[in-house]
Amino acid sequence: MSLHKMSELSGRRILLGVTGGIAAYKSAELIRGLRKAGAEVRVVMTEAAAQFITPMTLQALSGWPVRQNLFDREHEAAMGHIELARWADLVLVAPATADFLARMAAGMADDLLTALCLAAETRICVAPAMNQGMWRNPATEANVTVLRQRGIEPWGPAEGDQACGETGPGRMLEPEEMIKRVVRLFSGAAMNGVRVLLTAGPTREPIDPVRYLTNRSSGKMGYALAGAFRDQGAQVVMISGPVHLSSPQGVDVIRVETALEMAAAVMDRVEGFDIFVACAAVADYRPLEAASHKIKKEAESLQIGMTRNPDILAGVAALPKPPFCVGFAAETQHPEEYAEQKRISKCVDMIAANLVGAEEGGFEKDENSLTVLWEGGRVVLPMSEKSCLAEALVEQIAKQYGKTDTAQDS
Ligand code: PMT
Repeated sequence: MSLHKMSELSGRRILLGVTGGIAAYKSAELIRGLRKAGAEVRVVMTEAAAQFITPMTLQALSGWPVRQNLFDREHEAAMGHIELARWADLVLVAPATADFLARMAAGMADDLLTALCLAAETRICVAPAMNQGMWRNPATEANVTVLRQRGIEPWGPAEGDQACGETGPGRMLEPEEMIKRVVRLFSGAAMNGVRVLLTAGPTREPIDPVRYLTNRSSGKMGYALAGAFRDQGAQVVMISGPVHLSSPQGVDVIRVETALEMAAAVMDRVEGFDIFVACAAVADYRPLEAASHKIKKEAESLQIGMTRNPDILAGVAALPKPPFCVGFAAETQHPEEYAEQKRISKCVDMIAANLVGAEEGGFEKDENSLTVLWEGGRVVLPMSEKSCLAEALVEQIAKQYGKTDTAQDS
């Protein structure tokens, strides 16, 4: 653990959840490392965890009594599980068993750890540890997908030899790796206190009460960006079109449906924000009029008159005191060329071009790649998971925003 400087996690409050798996013995090393890096650590164990490691060991290492019971008279009189949830800057569950992930995905609160995870408004990270067959089981896969949609990205598992004698994915990440990730999480000084407003997802433009025009945006890219800004310390408000994703923890989400609603939600709030990112796939046109009743199937052909929607990004960039503006460009051909035209015509500071409608990347997929352009500069962010890509894009935005911010200050 000597790799970590004493101060890296200084003042950080980490609530470590330990569930019942053989990897629980590694929790001891994890606590030591986190404390060595300066964090205050409190431990909550499930009943099963106590079969693998004693509360006394974890109490001695953390320096605090280990909490095990939801119905603990002494603490629960003061709503102890809520207090614990509020106390933590980070809830880290390591090891997280298949059973725990299932109970968390189901939103259960029948023991102290699940109850405080449900109550927590702070970031929650889980480090799965289980037999490789359990990890690959569709039930576990479905539970992990639900957790991902809620912004809980699992840390690991790693692949390798398992305690049961099998080989495959399911090993808990090593404590050293987890400590590095915790440090990275909290080293988000790049965006500390910066206020970010972003749009995400598609819009729906009603034709009649039952039909609408929309596009293929799933919201994955925008939601990943919201999480990446949050992880870098930003205060994030996201105006989201209709998607099947849960709100990322710690992000204020305002849900809208149409382009006009999205435009109003942005314009009403944008004052006071430092950065505006337009990731939403906003419909350029809407039906001139939405019929008040379902259109009957009578005529052989049907024409729907359309009118232009306001351009939200261009509108924000044209404000007298605009925030630092970042746009996206979704193109089916010549992405960089068209993106550069959009960057200039909409007067935005940066634009991220992506190819849509191809085999890989773009709408709906879990992966994407971007070419990011700004005045006199360009960087290619290669195909990767949207969560990783979002981290890389936020890093680029932080660099360019930092330059303008310093220029304004001086
Ligand atoms: O949601 P996913 O499935 O993860 O897919 C991600 C994505 C492909 C939607 C995303 O990466 C992306 O490219 N988003 C922008 C989509 C888009 O509408 O691009 P555009 O080239 O049509 O628009 C250019 C820019 O103007 C965009 O920043 C857009 O948000 C903005 N715009 C467009 C029209 C409008 N009326 N108002 C706007 O603000």
